[in-house]
Amino acid sequence: MSAIVQPATRTPALSDAALDSRHRALKDLVREAGGIAQQAFEASSGGYEMKGPQDFLTETDAAVEKFIRDRLATLFPEDGFVGEESGSAPGDIVWVVDPIDGTANFARRIPHYCISIALAAHDEVLLGAIYDPVHDELYFARKGRGATRNGSPISVSGVTDPQMACVEMGWSVRISNATYLDVFSKILAAGVNIRRAATGALGLAYVADGRSDAYAELHMHPWDCLAGLLLVREAGGKVCDYLGVDWREEGGGVLAAAPGLAGLMSEATGIVCR
Ligand code: IPD
Repeated sequence: MSAIVQPATRTPALSDAALDSRHRALKDLVREAGGIAQQAFEASSGGYEMKGPQDFLTETDAAVEKFIRDRLATLFPEDGFVGEESGSAPGDIVWVVDPIDGTANFARRIPHYCISIALAAHDEVLLGAIYDPVHDELYFARKGRGATRNGSPISVSGVTDPQMACVEMGWSVRISNATYLDVFSKILAAGVNIRRAATGALGLAYVADGRSDAYAELHMHPWDCLAGLLLVREAGGKVCDYLGVDWREEGGGVLAAAPGLAGLMSEATGIVCR
């Protein structure tokens, strides 16, 4: 994806009413997008292309992103859009979309993936939605109003003992194997279990829901993590300052953790979280 060019003039902040209408629209939109993805998952016998090493692409990624992009352009034509598959339109108020997070799972017929959509305004994430259509679980957060799964409040785990902890990590060729191996060995030496389920967005939602005690990846793109980071923050977890890096251009390291694991995970990954 090419760099995201910012407009020369600043858009005014969103009013409460404008945010309310985006909040309502997002809940419906992410579920509808999930329905399209799941129908395709059930109908398809597979088929994918490779964008690069370990970087999968299916026809459904493009179709779901087009559906989301078209709907947002109709409802909120003034807003910007950043999508994993179709690039970006500039904006101080911008929708950041991963049409299918966990494409490697989707492509290999593993039913574990999600749709992730965040709304960022003036470099602050205000809304985050992650929908898992396989289990019909909608994770939703609005800044300052907590995090929910299917409308019920969720919170991060209370685990403090590393020997009871299970964290998730993701990795890619964007950071060297040697660096990852160093991080893994520090975490394992502390007695913490590590899993990988191959959808970073859902991995973050599971931290918010207390199903994992932390999620870390040394480089992520904004569409993979913005919604999830808001969920974890709103569910009482500690998160890295992702928006403090040049997220629109480069992405950056991600750490989100239950408070009891945050220190250990920060030390192991070198990513500060508060
Ligand atoms: C990927 C997944 C994976 C993570 C990668 C992401 P995609 O997103 O979230 O778990 O480790 O960094 O790129 O390609 O499935 O949308």
